Amino acid sequence: MNKKAILLAGGAGTRLYPLTKIVCKQLLPIYDKPMICYPLATLMLGGLREVLIISTPKDLPMLKDFLGDGTHLGIRIEYAAQPKPEGIAQAFLIGAEFIGDSGASLILGDNIFYGKLDFYREALARDRGACIFGYQVRDPERYGVVEFDTAGRAISLEEKPKKPRSPYAVPGLYVYDDRVVEFCRALRPSARGELEITDLNSMYLQRNELRVKLLTRGMAWLDTGTQITLLEASNYIATIEHRQGLKIACLEEVAFRVGFIDEKALAAIIDRLPKGEYRDYLQVVCEEGADETQVEPPPR
Ligand code: DAU
Repeated sequence: MNKKAILLAGGAGTRLYPLTKIVCKQLLPIYDKPMICYPLATLMLGGLREVLIISTPKDLPMLKDFLGDGTHLGIRIEYAAQPKPEGIAQAFLIGAEFIGDSGASLILGDNIFYGKLDFYREALARDRGACIFGYQVRDPERYGVVEFDTAGRAISLEEKPKKPRSPYAVPGLYVYDDRVVEFCRALRPSARGELEITDLNSMYLQRNELRVKLLTRGMAWLDTGTQITLLEASNYIATIEHRQGLKIACLEEVAFRVGFIDEKALAAIIDRLPKGEYRDYLQVVCEEGADETQVEPPPR
């Protein structure tokens, strides 16, 4: 079982300027909570409790202020700096010590997943090779793209191809075995000067050790890369939350439901929260007790 995760939350955020002049992208609101809650909740729902958050030296203090060392959520959060955005795969070099001799999962701090996470838990349960996912989108040229042969085997990976060979984008959620750091050390910067995650995935593909699992259309993978997709993601979350009366990626709730913290710990958190809707919501969660129908237990 793959137990360590990196949450990459750096980057210059230039595309969202001036929203990102003061606050980093991953702390911008997606409806009622900062963006980073969503990828962190995905990791926690996958059963992961050891997380390294990587961001810019400028933004790290704010992220630390928001999430602390994770104790209150029953997890352990460490932090590391990426001075320049030199590529997504650089995360594994920065995180080499944190990863040690285990495998590691990576999630991008601006990727939002909503739906049944079995696909992720299954990937984490594997010891050998790498696993990435494919998701049909209207505009694959904006992403890493995976191509399949007629038997459904992945045969090529391309980063932002002008002419995509398939409609399947690769979301920013990846699972690697214990060779990931070694493979990253062999990567060379691309033409745009980055250690490309697509090149890392291609190394596994060439060795026939890359599994690509297609996500079903019932799963939502939302983009937050532009002003309009940021708004659309907020609207999506608001629509579901308003309809169900349940919050998506409420970290304290997730920690409680997956069993990382108990009722007493949740009550202590609530005591420290300011009066308002978020506190009232958690109060109800705490009073109702952990309801297994609301979340699937992660693998132990
Ligand atoms: O969202 C999924 C896509 O993410 C994948 O399909 C692509 O294969 C992958 O390259 C990536 O594409 P993006 O165009 O979204 O990459 P971007 O450079 O915008 O980086 C994604 C996030 O990672 C962004 O919030 C900033 C952060 N980042 C990026 C780089 C290159 C870092 O923290 N450090 C970095 O060095």
